[in-house]
Amino acid sequence: QIYLASTTAPVNIAVIKYWGKRDPKFNLPTNSSLSVTLAQSDLRTHTTASCSASYKTSDSLLLNGQDQDVSGARTQACFRELRSLRQKLEDSDSSVPKISTLPLKIVSENNFPTAAGLASSAAGFAALVRAIANLYELKEDPTDLSRIARQGSGSACRSLFGGYVGWQKGEQQDGSDSFAYQVAPASHWPQMRALILVVSAAKKGVSSTTGMQTTVATSSLFPSRANETVPRRMKEMEKAVQEKDFETFGKVTMMDSNSFHATCLDTYPPIFYLNDVSRAAIKVVESINAAAGKIIAAYTFDAGPNAVIYYLEENEKEVAGLFKAAIGEKDGWGVERGQKLDANSA
Ligand code: DP6
Repeated sequence: QIYLASTTAPVNIAVIKYWGKRDPKFNLPTNSSLSVTLAQSDLRTHTTASCSASYKTSDSLLLNGQDQDVSGARTQACFRELRSLRQKLEDSDSSVPKISTLPLKIVSENNFPTAAGLASSAAGFAALVRAIANLYELKEDPTDLSRIARQGSGSACRSLFGGYVGWQKGEQQDGSDSFAYQVAPASHWPQMRALILVVSAAKKGVSSTTGMQTTVATSSLFPSRANETVPRRMKEMEKAVQEKDFETFGKVTMMDSNSFHATCLDTYPPIFYLNDVSRAAIKVVESINAAAGKIIAAYTFDAGPNAVIYYLEENEKEVAGLFKAAIGEKDGWGVERGQKLDANSA
């Protein structure tokens, strides 16, 4: 007998960036962060989790057809937490099949470049955790699951919710208060769009995990970012989302992306995620906003050169139209189209 469950999880793109860990073991961040979950079906991870006594191997994970190492602490932490929740169900009710000890087989597909700074680990671990939670018929809510997904990859905790999502850094040493929460559902501000500019689909040079550790250890700009700038911006951003104030949303988004990349440059040895094409995208956004006389487009970059441009549907022509006309598909740019947000809470 094979027990099986499937799910998909969308990517999320942070407008206040998570960068820095206060505890690598529990994967706890030095600052809170806030993101927007993208709903488009080709920016999702689809994952099937199954378990069976007939599986000869131990736990396995196949990502885009390739066998992955599951012995890493991150994946193990997720498996362990989910198994222990299932075990509790089995212990409390003898009619619940005892499947928590069976080997797990996880099969995942990404429809976008893996590790190119397109939040693939976010969708990946969110889908992995939810697929196993479904397989085990766990009653835990998205908040509880976000606490588990966080241990797989920090940004993954935010992909358990749709719309506008915060991740509070928490104060506890065991991470019990470090989880994601919904700031507002996508339906609150459904006009929001995200344009993904694929500058490069190549794997990123410095992984976020390694990069942020080096930043924490060496950057002198980092403490003020984590302790002063981000806490202030979290409040401004939550208010901007509540009030559907795009000018503030856009300005804070761009400034926080710049602040994050400044700490990367201030890291020793320095980390460069942006390239000339990224900088050209920033210039295009600046000229769009200058022509409009206000902020109608906002760029943000994760740990790679690809740009995500947020804008409102009413400015589709001025923003997405201009990017497509100016750049099209040439010079290594791929314009992915405006992504609609997730209407449901994932
Ligand atoms: C720049 O979530 O990939 O995208 O917790 O080590 O897996 P780990 O890091 P990860 O870092 C994401 C960094 C970021 C900003 C963000 O998504 O908030």
